[in-house]
Amino acid sequence: MHPARFAPMPSRITGTGRYLPARVVTNNELAERVATSDEWIRTRTGIHQRHIAANDEETSDLALHASRAALAAAALAPADVDLIIVATTTPDVVFPSTACILQAKLGAHGGPAFDVQAVCSGFVYALAIADSMVSAGLARNALVVGAEIYSRILDWKDRSTCVLFGDGAGAVVLLPSDAPGILSAHLHADGHYKDILCVPGQIKRGAVSGAPFVHMDGHAVFKFAVKVLAEVASEALAANGKTTADVDWLIPHQANIRIMDATAKKLGIAPARVISTVDVHANTSAASIPLALDVAVRDGRVRVGDHLMLVGVGGGFTWGSVFVRW
Ligand code: ACO
Repeated sequence: MHPARFAPMPSRITGTGRYLPARVVTNNELAERVATSDEWIRTRTGIHQRHIAANDEETSDLALHASRAALAAAALAPADVDLIIVATTTPDVVFPSTACILQAKLGAHGGPAFDVQAVCSGFVYALAIADSMVSAGLARNALVVGAEIYSRILDWKDRSTCVLFGDGAGAVVLLPSDAPGILSAHLHADGHYKDILCVPGQIKRGAVSGAPFVHMDGHAVFKFAVKVLAEVASEALAANGKTTADVDWLIPHQANIRIMDATAKKLGIAPARVISTVDVHANTSAASIPLALDVAVRDGRVRVGDHLMLVGVGGGFTWGSVFVRW
């Protein structure tokens, strides 16, 4: 008898969902608060607007809306969800995990639930872990969510960072399947780059010590991101015996259109095959890939049999790819 809880089965993404807070903040609105302009933000980043969570919305609330949409698409009742992984850098509280809070809000019980902290790579890390657990029989099914409220860790007086980010959540449901939908995962980190993108503040003895805001060396991040996104996509293609001609859709972390364009160019993938939502969502960190995926699934671009290359990069530094057959 196999010691795992369930029969080991390959997993497949069977439903996607997203949620964006109602409030939209345009570049022009930001230009009223800090010394910036719509033209500067558009040309340097490709961002036109971002969604910002209401004061009474928590990361688990954004995750809940996105999860309900993904579960409906997968025809899985919330009470039947087993494993829940939430990728987030902006959890509701220090603990319990946002995944446990989400589990309670969904009305699910008893399955494993935990958060993954890999910053903007969080969703590809979480998807890889969830697939491994379903494939190993450690989980019957999985809900994988990227959810963030970056607006709460931004210094709204710092024009070099506050224009870049937004809030939102994206979710996918993994069900066991006869044929694998997740073809490979390649995950990496190099902690020697920990200082080029970080929130250095700590909670110590009841007070915040150090700056609790996003700090970034923009030039270093740009160079590093383009290099490792292209490398990790190539690593996945080589492992699967495929070439870039086999990639129907590149879905990269949505940090900045110039990083995305440079990555696609390096790989030799045409811009028309890159899913981009950075213009309307801005950088939503761990939520950005599942948000973009859900947009492309629901507007009909992603079709059965398509090959999708999901590539993430973020603070840590962390990076990774998940290669998917839809
Ligand atoms: N509005 C107007 N001017 C600005 C703004 C702003 N919002 N922000 C910076 N500037 C100014 C700078 O002060 C500087 O002025 P100076 O020349 O008088 O000193 C000037 O614009 C140029 O600044 P640079 O930093 O050289 O601008 P650059 O063209 O490199 O663009 C950017 C900055 C967009 C941050 C770029 O470095 C970048 O794309 N980096 C990648 C970082 C990124 O996308 N991070 C997202 C998070 S990381 C992740 O998700 C993995």
